[in-house]
Amino acid sequence: MKEIKIGLIGFGTVGSGVVRVLQENAPLIEQRLGGRIRLHRIADIDLERDRGVQVPHEILTTDAEAVLSDPEIAICVELMGGIEPARTFILKAMKSGKHVVTANKALLALHGAEIFAAAQEYGVRIGFEASVGGGIPIIRSLREGLVANRIISIFGILNGTSNYILSRMTQEKKGFREVLKDAQRLGYAEADPTLDVEGIDTAHKLAILAALAFGIRVDLNDIFVEGISAITPLDIQYSSEFGYRIKLLAIGKGDGAKVELRVHPTMLPAHHLLSTVEGVYNAIYISGDAVGPTMFYGQGAGGLPTGSAVVSDLVDLCGDIIKGIKGRGSHLPLVSSQQGAIKAIDEVVTPCYLRFTALDRPGVLSTISGILGKHEIGIASVIQKGRKIKEAVPVVMMTHEAKGSDIHHALSEINSLDIIRAKTTVIRVEGDIA
Ligand code: NDP
Ligand code: HSE
Repeated sequence: MKEIKIGLIGFGTVGSGVVRVLQENAPLIEQRLGGRIRLHRIADIDLERDRGVQVPHEILTTDAEAVLSDPEIAICVELMGGIEPARTFILKAMKSGKHVVTANKALLALHGAEIFAAAQEYGVRIGFEASVGGGIPIIRSLREGLVANRIISIFGILNGTSNYILSRMTQEKKGFREVLKDAQRLGYAEADPTLDVEGIDTAHKLAILAALAFGIRVDLNDIFVEGISAITPLDIQYSSEFGYRIKLLAIGKGDGAKVELRVHPTMLPAHHLLSTVEGVYNAIYISGDAVGPTMFYGQGAGGLPTGSAVVSDLVDLCGDIIKGIKGRGSHLPLVSSQQGAIKAIDEVVTPCYLRFTALDRPGVLSTISGILGKHEIGIASVIQKGRKIKEAVPVVMMTHEAKGSDIHHALSEINSLDIIRAKTTVIRVEGDIA
């Protein structure tokens, strides 16, 4: 039986998940592949920590160079994360003729063009199924299953950590910080969890999906990004009173002159399928012109689900090596020469949830609604509970569809009023996801 040797750099949450999948499903994988995937070397800084899996001691090394410069290794699996030295390692592996598998969405979103150009130059391939949606095979689905479609829109819950936090804040009324600690303990969060909770990790994943779906080169700076760290239990409670759930959503719409790409907490109708996605689960709701709406669902983070995606790339690459297939590209490349025109958030039109923190005085509601009206913003409903003469109280409004620039100007004016005691919270609403 033909044996393909692979090297792993990064024996953390995902690295150990990969090793477990390779070990536990070895007979199945060998039978399906008609060959054997041999884990030849594992590099990690810390060789003492218990990884929950047993590997022969002699394959462990603290030196990534031992993977990169070993001519027997055909595929280098990069699971250390971060930008450097991961970028340098991947470029070096490719230069020495190794195929690469990575889950590093931050690196692909920032340096994808350079990495894919190098892969082409050196005649190697890169597998990145695990970079979006954890265990959900969304990259392959977009590139193969949906290749016949013009993609109209993508709505994705793409960050397991944030969805886990929002779900537990909703169900158990727990505070943000407490739940984040659990997500870290469970191995869902990035080494720097601000990437998760500030929406940056979701933007990295949206950049990858949008490049595939809309065939454009995405500059991360063009994606509007807002995280969940300012969402309070009060917003969650009000949103459910209005019949909505709050999710951190990646939104991509490609059916206008400009592509719309944004990441922010979003209020979705409570009955929508995406609203039912809880905990570490991710879901990607994609509409194509021929297929209509589709939804992909599964665990978006964690060692084993992500390991499943990494190993799927390994099987794919090893299959080609065994069959002697070289240079198989995809019909949907990750990197396009076409720079996409992205709609600015000021141009985006949505209904909005606005939570003002206002002194409870006569005339407050009419002052706020007057300013909103002046900026062409119509009010659909208002909630104000509790009466406190001296303290500020929450005043919540749902607007009709409003342009981003109008919301922006109105809130600048309202936030500077004496009666307003804190920055107004804005949550955009997507009421009509088809
Ligand atoms: P971990 O931090 O758990 O694992 C990374 C491992 O790499 C650590 O053991 C780290 O050692 C080691 N490492 C760091 N630098 C080097 C180096 N120079 N040489 C060798 N080893 C090194 O991260 P994850 O497994 O969670 O994530 C890995 C990648 O997968 C990231 O790109 C992440 O974004 C991505 N990903 C993660 C998912 C998840 O659920 N966790 C899901 C999907 C993608 P030390 O800890 O000592 O620094
Ligand atoms: N930190 C990421 C998440 C890992 O929580 O979704 C999966 O990409």
